[in-house]
Amino acid sequence: MSVATIEEVLVLDFGGQYSQLIARRIRECGVFAELLPATAPIETIVRRSPKALVLSGGPASVHDPGAPAFPEQLIELGVPVLGICYGMQAMAKALGGKVEAAESGEFGRTDLTVIGDGGMLLGGLPTEQHCWMSHRDSVTEAPPGFSPIAASPGSPVAALESSEQGLYGIQFHPEVVHTPYGTEVLNRFLREVAGCEQQWNPASVVAEQVEAIRDQVGDGKVICGLSGGVDSSVAAKLVHEAIGENLTCVFVDHGLMRSNEAEQVVEAFGQFGIPLVHVDAEQRFLERLAGVTEPETKRKIIGEEFIRVFEEEATKLTDVDYLVQGTLYSDVIESGGSDHAATIKSHHNVGGLPEDLDFELVEPLRMLFKDEVRAVGTELGLPDRMVWRQPFPGPGLGIRIVGGEVNRERLDILRAADHILQEEIRAGNLYRSLWQSFCVLPAIRSVGVQGDGRTYAYPIVIRAVTSEDAMTADWARLPYDLLEKVSNRIINEVSGVNRVALDISSKPPSTIEWE
Ligand code: XMP
Repeated sequence: MSVATIEEVLVLDFGGQYSQLIARRIRECGVFAELLPATAPIETIVRRSPKALVLSGGPASVHDPGAPAFPEQLIELGVPVLGICYGMQAMAKALGGKVEAAESGEFGRTDLTVIGDGGMLLGGLPTEQHCWMSHRDSVTEAPPGFSPIAASPGSPVAALESSEQGLYGIQFHPEVVHTPYGTEVLNRFLREVAGCEQQWNPASVVAEQVEAIRDQVGDGKVICGLSGGVDSSVAAKLVHEAIGENLTCVFVDHGLMRSNEAEQVVEAFGQFGIPLVHVDAEQRFLERLAGVTEPETKRKIIGEEFIRVFEEEATKLTDVDYLVQGTLYSDVIESGGSDHAATIKSHHNVGGLPEDLDFELVEPLRMLFKDEVRAVGTELGLPDRMVWRQPFPGPGLGIRIVGGEVNRERLDILRAADHILQEEIRAGNLYRSLWQSFCVLPAIRSVGVQGDGRTYAYPIVIRAVTSEDAMTADWARLPYDLLEKVSNRIINEVSGVNRVALDISSKPPSTIEWE
């Protein structure tokens, strides 16, 4: 993204679990923020001309040998600095304050008492408030020139500032929702201390990206693989806004989508007039999956076949030089940061494409978090159903038929059951609050009784989870009434099913998908 002209704040990452969240919150305050490793050379930081710097928390103790140090050259930049948690401790230690190891740290909700007038960050806020802490060491003495502005039971100096030097520190986490005045503190730092004025929002990305895409591809021809998911749909729509008919989307329909999903993609892109090649490859996929029961083999076959079909279509189109990828900022960070070269999004993704397809990448979402991509999607007029779609694995229903072959009969049963679950979850207004909700078909049969006869049919497992990022997940406490309705409907309406079970395992130790 050509963000050079945008006011930006850099978050120097000391490895804390909330570093990404800090950047997200700053953006929610309407100021563009990016993450850099805390070890980034000072020249890199200078080149970016940030309006302010934020130092994140981190797992180390400032007393550990080799613990990351406060980059003292930052002070010479004359840019305001806010240290959070470890960031504050590193700053305090480097500048002559005292940081001491405590017997027991402070973890979770903690009382915070504002000291004196509370300075720029806490002035005028309630003297007694709560905050969220996660630390063992604490600052026991502020460095010369700094005033302590808050204390907590375990932190004599829980916040400090030297407004003359433009240096600020807070031991608590303003970025988590459990710190009620966290956003206020961040806002004050950004607006009042750092003087950030611009209002950044995901919608402003649209105009800017349209320009950037035009600059990058000119009159070139561009191809985009669609999965039906929000990332590839938003990326495609954005590129289409920029270059119109020079974009061709390819939707490889592997026949492993949920009910009506393929139709929805075709319809939405048709309405927008975006050139779309819909490849109905169900037969090919099913032929290759016949007799395969081992989950990794299924995954591999689906991935390989996907690439083959995509390649065939790509070579039918002439003169294509560019490939659109829905890479997100979290992928960029995870693969080594924004200063690194483009990395093809292959993790967990059936759309990971072979390197010998010699395209230059167009990645219009590289700077965006998932929630921002959704906002951009809405801004571009994509239907809510697409923008708010729950994550769906690239290999689709292929990995939700477990312990046996994936075939048309089982897919139809699973699709029908899943459709009922989705309908009821949506009707109960729960769809957006769940990270994922879906059905699984274990390829076993058991006995049941329906009418006067015995049945020998498949079970369906309901899996619904809440999660922030899929790394951990909890099983969703769906209302009993809803479960009852779903169970009755599935057994009554889907022939081939005589039993419905609910998965009540969290991740870890289970995973979200069954496979
Ligand atoms: P697990 O099952 O590992 O899933 O807890 C974590 C998240 O990743 C998704 N997932 C996949 N996505 N291709 C994908 O594109 C895959 O092969 C795949 N396997 C799991 C899963 O839906 C969940 O959101």
